[in-house]
Amino acid sequence: MKQQRRKPNYGICRGFLIPMGFPVACFESGLNYTPQSGDNFIVTYPKCGTTWAQHIVWMLQNDGQALPLGKNINLEVPHLEEVGAEFVAAIPSPRFIKTHLPYSFTPYSPDAKYIYIARNPFDCVVSFYYHTQGFVKHYDFADGTFDEFFELFIEGEVDWGDYFDHLLSWYEHRHQPNILFTTYEAMKKDPKQQIIEMAKFLGNSYLEKVKNLEILHSILEHTSFTKMSQEQSRWSSLRSPEMTPFIRKGEIGDWQNHFSQNQVARLTDKFRKKTAGIGIENLWPELIPISMHF
Ligand code: A3P
Repeated sequence: MKQQRRKPNYGICRGFLIPMGFPVACFESGLNYTPQSGDNFIVTYPKCGTTWAQHIVWMLQNDGQALPLGKNINLEVPHLEEVGAEFVAAIPSPRFIKTHLPYSFTPYSPDAKYIYIARNPFDCVVSFYYHTQGFVKHYDFADGTFDEFFELFIEGEVDWGDYFDHLLSWYEHRHQPNILFTTYEAMKKDPKQQIIEMAKFLGNSYLEKVKNLEILHSILEHTSFTKMSQEQSRWSSLRSPEMTPFIRKGEIGDWQNHFSQNQVARLTDKFRKKTAGIGIENLWPELIPISMHF
């Protein structure tokens, strides 16, 4: 008899699969948050560079100081759907807020700003697999294989739903003046430029800060993969310590160590079908399966 595929544990709220242990009431209230002028959102599909961007904006706000040991980035730049609206409303403005919501579910105000970071789906699914495996208490998927997770990802049956629906929902709005749309790959290629772009987007006071080279270099150094790999309890205290660390590999192209040929073909096919005619493939000109098939 064929062995049944293992699945991570998920909760559910308003049609979204959510990590087990996320309070449903907080998720629900997060959706109903009323954004204020001065709110700045870091928006991503999971595993696309959220924590990296959270640390960049936190350091911008704190004049180039790195997040000290003992603090948790998810309390400083809280995850809207995890902590709920009341928590977020209680932090002083200007707020920095993390969310994984697609555009139509994200609390929107023309007076708030949104930094959206996209990552190619091939590396995203690999990172998401290790994430799901590693939070044992949340997902109970420690023995799950990449192949099992890949099937769920390609069907959109993972937390926060379908990767492409999420990306498309924000891509469509990328030219709005209060949205900065960028990629994990652009951050890898030229982190200094991306930090400056973020500062510029956040406003003059932030731009002035990065004109101070000491601040800029401190942000660059302390948000590097090497530095962020240290003292990882700052990013996620709930990670099961025996599993791969949260800041794991930080590379472009690790998918090549995980995908079968059939999986490459299927994800490429889904990419093509979901994004036909809108140029999303140009976000990743160096991504082999995409450059070969468009
Ligand atoms: P990998 O699993 O591929 O290593 P998120 O914060 O959205 O959950 O994304 C996590 C991914 O971003 C992980 O990818 C992690 O290693 C990577 N990452 C985090 N900080 C990084 C940094 N400073 N530089 C490069 N990659 C980073």
